[in-house]
Amino acid sequence: MAFFFHLKRILHKYFLPLFLLLSLLVWFTAFSGGKLKSFHISLAPTQTLYKGDSLKDELNILVKASNRIDTPKPKEECPQESPLLRGAVKLTFEPSLTLKDVEEENKEVTEGQYEPLDCTSRQSVAILIPHRNRERHLLYILHHLHPFLQRQQLHYSIYIIQQAGDETFNRAKLLNVGYLEALKDYDWDCFIFHDVDLVPENDHNLYVCDEQPKHLVVGRNATGYKLRYKGYFGGVTALTKDQFYQVNGFSNAYWGWGGEDDDLRIRVELQKMKIVRPPSDVARYTMVFHNRDSGNEINKYRMELLRKTQHVWRKDGINSCSYKTLSIQRLPLYVNVTVDIGKP
Ligand SMILES: *[C@@H]1O[C@H](CO)[C@@H](O)[C@H](O)[C@H]1NC(C)=O
Ligand SMILES: *[C@@H]1O[C@H](CO)[C@@H](O)[C@H](O)[C@H]1NC(C)=O
Repeated sequence: MAFFFHLKRILHKYFLPLFLLLSLLVWFTAFSGGKLKSFHISLAPTQTLYKGDSLKDELNILVKASNRIDTPKPKEECPQESPLLRGAVKLTFEPSLTLKDVEEENKEVTEGQYEPLDCTSRQSVAILIPHRNRERHLLYILHHLHPFLQRQQLHYSIYIIQQAGDETFNRAKLLNVGYLEALKDYDWDCFIFHDVDLVPENDHNLYVCDEQPKHLVVGRNATGYKLRYKGYFGGVTALTKDQFYQVNGFSNAYWGWGGEDDDLRIRVELQKMKIVRPPSDVARYTMVFHNRDSGNEINKYRMELLRKTQHVWRKDGINSCSYKTLSIQRLPLYVNVTVDIGKP
């Protein structure tokens, strides 16, 4: 009894100093090692940037985060105008270019995604490209777009939305799918809806969103660099997450070529939003030549559909977009979302 009483007294008397000493010891081992440090830093990007849950993804992120430890101070916001911009550049379309080459050129891109190392981007941007049977065009756009976006100091990811099967192509519905699927990965600020065959010629054409929906293609080499017609809203457009949500996205009803971009313009105008465009000397594109694909014939119902837009837009859009995701491949330069979107 006396012994226990004694022990209790000793513990009471020495508990506080002992506890402090132990805490100090734990703190010292933790912060001198460096190992724990990198773990600590890796937490933030894991939670916000990536939702891939395979072990491989986790490891990649850990490696990436530990590489960043050398960065001496917290990143500042990237400047209003990137110092890396070059203006108009001469584009080349080498027949010998391969996917391996483009991967070699873009080692900092992982699973289609990139963010600047030395500053925090002003916007996080998802680039959505609908695709089927255009592998050559895809190669050229990846080759030009990755360095272009990096010079703009953007945090971005490129998504290819691949229509499965041989049914008539539906660009607009694929873009709706891209929006919904990309938001499962990250809370993107801005979406660029991008044709696979259009390559931007001038990096002052900024792939960021504005107060109003933005149309980025004023001119292309195929049309003598003139706007195709007043109100044209196709090719490449930029809408914020909220702007796109507000118009209920694209219509799902346009199968085949044409009309869906005019439909989006009507939706935007119904919301009293105004389309903005960069200056025409900047908003220039090269259109890589191709024949009209089979499976993407001109949609002869497009005028009829356009007359109905104002009555149906609330019910036909991202809120009614039904599809089946067949696979999601996270490849080095892009995320390949393959979907069954049904048929007309
Ligand atoms: C535009 O440029 C591309 C690439 O050089 C070329 O394939 C295409 O034929 C050009 N189109 C026109 C109409 O000049
Ligand atoms: C995307 O994945 C599908 C299914 O695996 C494949 O058939 C298609 O070729 C892929 N597309 C691209 C552009 O990687």
